[in-house]
Amino acid sequence: MSYRVGYFVGSLSSTSINRILSKALISVAPEEFELIEIPIRDLPLYSPDYDADYPPQGRALKDAISAMDAVLFVTPEYNRSIPGALKNAIDWASRPWGQNSFDHIPAAVIGASTGPIGTAVAQQSLRGVLSFCNARQMTAPEAYVRFSYEDFEDDGTITSTRTEEFLRTFMAEFRDHIERVLTVLPRQEPV
Ligand code: FNR
Repeated sequence: MSYRVGYFVGSLSSTSINRILSKALISVAPEEFELIEIPIRDLPLYSPDYDADYPPQGRALKDAISAMDAVLFVTPEYNRSIPGALKNAIDWASRPWGQNSFDHIPAAVIGASTGPIGTAVAQQSLRGVLSFCNARQMTAPEAYVRFSYEDFEDDGTITSTRTEEFLRTFMAEFRDHIERVLTVLPRQEPV
């Protein structure tokens, strides 16, 4: 079985360590995975005023999610929560009311920070949001990455065997989680 996994990078930074982490995750992903980035950069700030007629960026986001079997969030921690750009994207995807793109979707959360708690607080915040959005989250293993250039190169190459094994296990566990969720909650065909 192959799976299309859409991934969100929560950072807009040109030097994002979470983008490096996303590349590293691609390099250790199970062969059944096709990983496709779902961009968030060009979304306007969400307003319910758009609900009657979503702009192209909002429609593109929702179409992209509906074409995926699962979603993966790779995010920094900003002020002990998730970056506004990522929350904005989630708000777009969750609306209009009754058309929540995350309903029942298999999801996983991971993040890197330069600080010692490795985005743990941001991930708790994100998990609350995804819970309300009715995404089917993988709850274990958790993955709090304290980023160091001793473990990663800019292109996502992982230079630490321990880190590589940890991330490979995380992705393999995500595959098993997706399989379990889709067994009971198959994805609807995109309309
Ligand atoms: C941070 N950073 C940060 N780190 C952390 O561990 N906890 C936090 O609450 C915050 N808060 C925070 C707020 C803002 C506005 C910025 C710009 C940064 C530091 C953060 O971990 C570091 O900048 C990472 O490099 C951000 O990830 P990206 O953007 O490089 O992927």
